[in-house]
Amino acid sequence: MVLQKNISMATNKNNGAMIIQLPKNYDVRGNLSFIEEINHIPFKIERTYWIYDVPGGEVRGGHAYKENQEFIVALSGSFDVILDNGTESKTFFLNRSYYGLYVPKGVWRQMCNFSTNSLALVLASIKFNPRDYIYDYEVYKEMARNVHI
Ligand code: TYD
Repeated sequence: MVLQKNISMATNKNNGAMIIQLPKNYDVRGNLSFIEEINHIPFKIERTYWIYDVPGGEVRGGHAYKENQEFIVALSGSFDVILDNGTESKTFFLNRSYYGLYVPKGVWRQMCNFSTNSLALVLASIKFNPRDYIYDYEVYKEMARNVHI
């Protein structure tokens, strides 16, 4: 496997991880929110997946992506997303469907503390590519440089 020397991307402060509030259309019939690529999130959407039926106590993730950027929304229920740049970590609690967490490329991430019946929607900037994954935290720490979380 060929690894990049550094994960260079999110060196720009404006491009760090962040909670993004989504439009919310209040309506007595039920509320509505939506996401437009580029307009609300800083990438074009190449893929959408969702995580559901997570047994209590399970942890998802535990890896970083070399290129993929993500936007994670708790469509239902709640969970924690823990981001780590090799030197510090931050925990984001997601529990509403009208905001989400932007995760830049090059960030180590885990998802845990899923509530019963929680549903995590993930928008991704590239198609699924197993070679984009970094699974070894020690390797990750060697590669990660100036990644903002
Ligand atoms: P993975 O990304 O490792 O899940 P998590 O980070 O939540 O633990 O994916 C789990 C499995 O699903 C793995 O075998 C790859 C496969 N998968 C796809 O085929 N396409 C996808 O878009 C994703 C996200 C995963």
